[in-house]
Amino acid sequence: MELVTLAQRPEIAEAMQQINIAAWPAFMKQAGASDRHWSTLLQVYPEYQLALCDNDHHVMAIGHLIPAIWDGTSDGLPNGWDDVLMTALNRRGRSFNAICMMGAVVSPNSRTSGLGLSLLRMMKTFAFEHSPVLIAPVRPVLKPRYPLTPIERYIRWTYRNGASLPFDPWLRVHVRLGATIIKGAPHSMVVTGSVAQWESWSGMRFPESGLYIVPDALHAISIDYLNDAGKYEEPHVWVHYPFSQD
Ligand SMILES: CC(C)(COP(=O)(O)OP(=O)(O)OC[C@H]1O[C@@H](n2cnc3c(N)ncnc32)[C@H](O)[C@@H]1OP(=O)(O)O)[C@@H](O)C(=O)NCCC(=O)NCCS
Repeated sequence: MELVTLAQRPEIAEAMQQINIAAWPAFMKQAGASDRHWSTLLQVYPEYQLALCDNDHHVMAIGHLIPAIWDGTSDGLPNGWDDVLMTALNRRGRSFNAICMMGAVVSPNSRTSGLGLSLLRMMKTFAFEHSPVLIAPVRPVLKPRYPLTPIERYIRWTYRNGASLPFDPWLRVHVRLGATIIKGAPHSMVVTGSVAQWESWSGMRFPESGLYIVPDALHAISIDYLNDAGKYEEPHVWVHYPFSQD
C-alpha cells in the first residue's frame, strides 16, 4: 500500500470521484455545499486529498483533509462540515491553524477488512505532519438505522453496557485511534431541494408536508409543500485528536 496525494498524482482524480460516487446517497451528491464546491476544493487543496493505492497503483481508499480554523474550545468549533468547507474556500491563501478530516471512503470491494482503520491511521499521521491540531466532523455509519435519535443522545450510546467505547463502529475506530468526542453537530451538512427533487433522490413519494425517514439519511427529511421544499440537516460528531507522533 502506498499513500499518495492528488497533487503528486493528478491522474487519480477520476478514481477518487468514482469511489465517492459509489459511497454516498443521491441526496448528498446532487445538492448542498458538497455538490457546488467539492470540485473547487479538490483544485484548491490537492495536497490534502489522499489515496491509498495497491501495488498496481489502483486506488483502494481515499481520505479528504482540509485546512481549518479552531480556537480549541467546544463553542469555537465550526458549525459543521459545510462550514469547514466554505471557510477553507473563502480563506484560500490565508493562514489556518488546524486540519480537518472531511471524509474517508474505502472502495466497496475492499470494505470490512481493516482498510478503513489503516486509512484513518495514515490520515492522522499525515495531518500531524502539517498541523498539531486535528479535528473531524465524523459521519457515524450506523446512524441511518436510528434516524429518530438526536445526535447528542446517539453519541452517548456505548458499545456494551459499562464500556467507554462508542456504540457506533466508525466513531469507535476514531476513538481507538486516540480521538476524543467533543459534541454533536446537528446541522453539519444541509441539503435542500424541491419536493420533486427529493422524490427523485430518495425513490419515495411524499404525499403531504411532514417529516419522512429516507434510506441512508441520518435524520428525518422535512417536506414543505407550501414552499415546494425539502430540507435535510445531516448530523455529525465533532472529534479532536490530541497531538501525537505515533
Ligand atoms: C466507513 C468505512 C470507511 C469503513 O471502512 P472499512 O474498511 O469497512 O472499515 P474497517 O474494516 O477498518 O472496520 C472498522 C470498524 O468499523 C466497522 N464498520 C465499518 N463500516 C461499517 C458499517 N457500515 N456497518 C457496521 N460496521 C461497520 C467494522 O466492523 C469495524 O468495527 P470493529 O473494529 O468493531 O470490528 C467504509 O465502510 C466506507 O467507505 N463507507 C462509506 C463512506 C463512509 O461512511 N465513510 C465514513 C464517514 S466519512
